[in-house]
Amino acid sequence: MSRQIKIFDTTLRDGEQTPGVNLNIHEKLEIARQLVRLGVDVIEAGFAIASPGDFEAVKAVAENIKGATIASLCRAVEKDIDRAWEAVKGAERPRIHTFIATSDIHMKYKLKMSEEEVLERAVAMVKYAKNYCEDIEFSAEDASRTRTDFLYRVVEAVIKAGATVVNIPDTVGYATPLEFGRLIKGIRENVSNIDKVDISVHCHNDLGLAVANTLAAMENGATQLECTVNGLGERAGNAAVEEIIMGINTRKDFYGISNKIDTTQIYRTSKLVSSLTGVNVQPNKAIVGANAFAHESGIHQHGVLSEKSTYEIMTPESIGLSTNRMVLGKLSGRHAFEERLKEMGYTSLANDEIQKAFEKFKKLADKKKVVLDRDIEALIEEKVSEVPEVFELDSFQINSGNKTIATATVSLKKNDSVITEAATGDGPVDAAFNAMERAVGVSLELEDYGLRAVTEGKDALGEVTVRVSKDEKIFVGRGVSTDIIEASVKAYLNAINRAISELGEDTAAVSGN
Ligand code: KIV
Ligand code: ZN
Repeated sequence: MSRQIKIFDTTLRDGEQTPGVNLNIHEKLEIARQLVRLGVDVIEAGFAIASPGDFEAVKAVAENIKGATIASLCRAVEKDIDRAWEAVKGAERPRIHTFIATSDIHMKYKLKMSEEEVLERAVAMVKYAKNYCEDIEFSAEDASRTRTDFLYRVVEAVIKAGATVVNIPDTVGYATPLEFGRLIKGIRENVSNIDKVDISVHCHNDLGLAVANTLAAMENGATQLECTVNGLGERAGNAAVEEIIMGINTRKDFYGISNKIDTTQIYRTSKLVSSLTGVNVQPNKAIVGANAFAHESGIHQHGVLSEKSTYEIMTPESIGLSTNRMVLGKLSGRHAFEERLKEMGYTSLANDEIQKAFEKFKKLADKKKVVLDRDIEALIEEKVSEVPEVFELDSFQINSGNKTIATATVSLKKNDSVITEAATGDGPVDAAFNAMERAVGVSLELEDYGLRAVTEGKDALGEVTVRVSKDEKIFVGRGVSTDIIEASVKAYLNAINRAISELGEDTAAVSGN
């Protein structure tokens, strides 16, 4: 029987450390639910002591998400461990994940601690955490730049103290595959009690080697792989879960390793994470990029048409990419629509969510000749980014051209009143955003604006993602429409409502002006 590997997903912790990413508690729960559908073994839900918001999010994930171990990260410090335990103790399977750096460079310049002090602290804090929780993961931060004799000593000592998982991070993405594989082999051969625990690896992608290093470590005996959806994470990110899994599965003949992941959930997981974080996936990204299964050259197209395996080493269906067939026409009823949603894997939508999606579908079918699965996905994802609508879009009007100053008039509804404001701008989108800010009474910094066509064709749905900042916090907004100005207006309003729901209307308004 093949060896089974465990998948530890840290999208909600290291992934959230991606510059500009800020997920609220509902979004974290939504992602955690999807990670369970994906079949990960462990969800690292956050760094509980980092802020009250992080604490509440870890606690909510621990208390509400069943079917995976829930971990919180903490430094090797008593108050961090107390907080981590407080947050995860309600989980079906809680884990405390504590870490301290072991490389000379980190011990000297960051910790200002000697080798013996670090060793002593690591052991003491694993013992301390063990008083709370059976399952303790210990990470030797910057392990790949740690002297191996010291790393062996630390690993052996923390296992003796009660660690159940020992994590070997390549914190700065410095290792190379052969070298990292050898490091794991060395640990297996030189640490006497290593068989008692899972050996985990956590690779960063600074040199673009995170997945390669992770797979090399697995070949050399690592039993838990840490990763994130779409490779999000600090700096260049972490090893991408979708690449690791499809690598293992596609090359099962070579690796002979199994895992619990349901690969048909990969595409949906990737989409959910990119729409909630506002971090788009590059088109040529392996597995989940828009071009990952596209064949451009005539020779390739010809090959694939006669026999798919000529140029396809895995099928789009294996990651849950729909075959993009026509869904339904504008005369289709709600029952048929609901059946199609189920076939597409949307099995857990509430009645009112289905109704809302159906209404959007009807409107779209009026405007667009052919409604494809990808259109339906975009409409459903719009629901995911919904927030309490303090302001609703009533109407907008734009005047723009190459010889006029763009002007926009936007009317927004709040309770029973309608607020109308006009503004000029550097183009229609800027004018609309300025008019909306006036109407709401807030001023936001636009950090990023992205527009993509959901499908091919002139009548395609346009999907706009905006990232705005307010008081150093980032808010993401999404909007879809066949009219790209409307999609932009909806996205900006979505971001405004998100800022208001998190900061409160007064804070959002006062400090911005
Ligand atoms: O990159 C790293 O070393 C980490 C550890 C804290 C696990 O994220
Ligand atoms: Zn990391």
